[in-house]
Amino acid sequence: MEKSRPHVILSAAISIDGKIATRTGRSNLSSRKDLIRMHNLRKNVDAILVGKNTVNIDNPLLTVRYVKGRNPIRIILDSKGSLSPKSKVISTAKKIPTILVVSENAPRNVERFITKGVEIIRCGKNKINIKKLLMILGKKGIKRIVVEGGGTTNWYFFKEKLIDEIVITIAPYVVGGINAISLVEGIGFSDVSNSFKLKKIKKLQNEIILHYVS
Ligand SMILES: NC(=O)c1ccc[n+]([C@@H]2O[C@H](COP(=O)([O-])OP(=O)(O)OC[C@H]3O[C@@H](n4cnc5c(N)ncnc54)[C@H](OP(=O)(O)O)[C@@H]3O)[C@@H](O)[C@H]2O)c1
Repeated sequence: MEKSRPHVILSAAISIDGKIATRTGRSNLSSRKDLIRMHNLRKNVDAILVGKNTVNIDNPLLTVRYVKGRNPIRIILDSKGSLSPKSKVISTAKKIPTILVVSENAPRNVERFITKGVEIIRCGKNKINIKKLLMILGKKGIKRIVVEGGGTTNWYFFKEKLIDEIVITIAPYVVGGINAISLVEGIGFSDVSNSFKLKKIKKLQNEIILHYVS
């Protein structure tokens, strides 16, 4: 597929033991310096994409705040259209472009989000077809996307081999917990073959930023 789809960068902060949140869903792993790095990345892409659980658990704004710059379009994967209209992304959608991606079989009442300023894309029968979604986003002029998790969303992108770059911050915490979300969830690969090339390593006080390319 190849280059009419947007360039996809996966960005996350992980603990030393590879988790992106604690077992209770706390994910504030980044230092202020790392947040600045993350927001610099956000301002240089056209869109930021997350899964529904991340919106439900973190209630993020997904904007550029730690640096000056343009907000990317916010894209949320939510096949059933079950997000709370009170979430920050939805309640700010009249000011910041926001796309809710649902499946073709999502209930008709997802249209209620339109009155909140949200654009709806229906893509995939029961589950969201992300390959198809990227083609739709490409046609809309979206050239670069940052995927910011969570672990399930990350898995779908890896599974479909849609990640072009990975920017990972290793934060100086150990989180543990069999139920704590890892960088990549899902069923996982059965063999060790999905490799990336290490392009850059940067040290930020107690954090390490790893930059890989496909
Ligand atoms: N440290 C970090 O950098 C970081 C960043 C982001 C999130 N997090 C943490 O990650 C945790 C949430 O991760 P998570 O794995 O539970 O959930 P997630 O990836 O945020 O959301 C997954 C949900 O998105 C929906 N979805 C629909 N179509 C999808 C598709 N094709 N691909 C992927 N998702 C699709 C699915 O729900 P439906 O089936 O209902 O559609 C799926 O269950 C939170 O605790 C959050 O704090 C950490």
